[in-house]
Amino acid sequence: MNDLVALAAALARRAGGIALEGRRGGDLGATTKSSPTDIVTLYDRMCEETIVTGLADARPHDAVVGEEGTSRPGTSGIEWHIDPIDGTANYFFGLPTWAVSIGACDAEGPLAGAVYLPVLDEMFTASRGGGAFLNGAPIAPRDVRSLPDALLATGFGYDPAAREAHGRTVANMVGHVRDIRRLGAASVDMCFVACGRLDAYVEGGLNSWDIMAARLVLTEAGCVVTDYAGGPVTPEEVIAAAPAIHGPLVALRARAAS
Ligand code: IPD
Ligand code: CA
Repeated sequence: MNDLVALAAALARRAGGIALEGRRGGDLGATTKSSPTDIVTLYDRMCEETIVTGLADARPHDAVVGEEGTSRPGTSGIEWHIDPIDGTANYFFGLPTWAVSIGACDAEGPLAGAVYLPVLDEMFTASRGGGAFLNGAPIAPRDVRSLPDALLATGFGYDPAAREAHGRTVANMVGHVRDIRRLGAASVDMCFVACGRLDAYVEGGLNSWDIMAARLVLTEAGCVVTDYAGGPVTPEEVIAAAPAIHGPLVALRARAAS
């Protein structure tokens, strides 16, 4: 398992370095994908290529799924889910909170993962049963006990109707928490909950590559992560929180959405 974490971290660092260098160089070759607000750059594709090549060299029998189109079957029972740049809009605008997210899973769930923030040079890592770390030091959520004390993060996908619906839900939640943040990268939001920089996170309509690594960082740090009903988390519905406020947050979101 340690080998998988080390590989994820090494490839995340390598890809992050390429993206950072590209950002300094000027033209990002940006175009749009699923909607006019869904940006993709030359470096999203270049970073995915770097990670996929690295995985093929080190783990030729593993399956790989990537946001920018990779879908490689495998025979080992291990699958990698990669987002070469999570928070591409932040990357494009020069905001610091974007990350390379690389997670591996098997039939039992997430196995190992790394989320690397190149601008901050912060590497979040986790392995199943092995704990969660930020730059090698163990992390834990903040000891928050009530929703009015909790700093909540959220995010909006690219579908305009889904955004508006989630915006209404969030508007109904903001009066019941300390405040709300929208940092712009799902994996970063989740890792920041895991290390106590945020207390909770709620977002829907994500993809496996957005959450595979970060959900393991969350659970290994001692947070609770579920779907909107409190059942097993899916990319479609994510509620992550420090343990004492998770139940109340599930209830608040349900009331806010109804
Ligand atoms: C997006 C970011 C954003 C979240 C979106 C994601 P991308 O990923 O994580 O914070 O709100 O749902 O799609 O497109 O920048 O890789
Ligand atoms: Ca991405």
